Amino acid sequence: MNLLDNTKDRYIKDLKAGLKVEWYYKCVEVSKKTKRDGGLYLALELMDKTGRIPAKIWDNVESCLKLLREGKVYKITGYVNEFMKKKEIKIDSINPVSPGAKDYNEADFIEQASFDTEALFKQMIDTMKANIKNDHLVRLIDLFTQGYEEKFKTHYGAQKIHHAYLGGLLKHTSSMMELALFIGRHYALDTELLLIGVLFHDLGKAFEFTISPSVNLTVEGGLLGHLVIGNRIFLELSDRIDGFPEDLRVKIQHLVISHHGEKEFGSPEVPKTAEALALHVIDLLDSRINIMKEAVRDAETGGPFTDYLYPLGRRLYIEKNDEKK
Ligand SMILES: [Fe+2]
Ligand SMILES: [Fe+2]
Repeated sequence: MNLLDNTKDRYIKDLKAGLKVEWYYKCVEVSKKTKRDGGLYLALELMDKTGRIPAKIWDNVESCLKLLREGKVYKITGYVNEFMKKKEIKIDSINPVSPGAKDYNEADFIEQASFDTEALFKQMIDTMKANIKNDHLVRLIDLFTQGYEEKFKTHYGAQKIHHAYLGGLLKHTSSMMELALFIGRHYALDTELLLIGVLFHDLGKAFEFTISPSVNLTVEGGLLGHLVIGNRIFLELSDRIDGFPEDLRVKIQHLVISHHGEKEFGSPEVPKTAEALALHVIDLLDSRINIMKEAVRDAETGGPFTDYLYPLGRRLYIEKNDEKK
């Protein structure tokens, strides 16, 4: 049986080494690279609603480069190869989608969240409201919801590395919210302050990079970064609340701008309150555990260890029952 007779086998999650492909994929990343002999090749990242796969173009590099735009769908002909134990497509030809192509379905390239973002957002706001009594902060949460709910629900948690998927920012923030509740109570911290710090800490990411048509740093993101952007949004919202206490405003700003923990990691100030330190540690814990879980889940090494993970500076052990879980 020709596997390609079956439409489902054209989706990225179903591609197997050795298969010929002649199908539509969205190009989300393209970069020019140098071969050992000094010639050029193109490294691409392709996606559809089922996943992502790397791809390479070895011939006609200049003409392909002229045609390729990140965020656009192309009809791609090539073969699925295995390189360093990972699947990739070796592209033979690439063509724009012909107008009215019957086998092309736009919905195949719209990334979908793997969980109910609506419900998780509501749960996060309900948790905050149940634990925050300060009227100014309750008003702040309402203004946040009015202005940023849609963007916050769908944005990625990072461009790459951790929570880099639709709804990732929400997943990361709401997970940190649970940790903040526990840690705030355990150490008798100002839990209301800590929860607000969690809410705003990565909000700037929604403007630091775009996720559609492709993941790309914005000018504001590249020049200011998400700490400064998040701080600005917090100031804009709190300015709209009559009588917002100045000392509270400064403490929240401190949480947002110090959450990377060290000046060399982009924080203009190191955490100088227990709540700011707690926010930094919770953020680190949640992002690192997520990196570990995703790396073990996606490992294609077949061995007892993952590939080397640069953000963590190590390879991770894959327990037998973790494999292909
Ligand atoms: Fe951050
Ligand atoms: Fe974060």
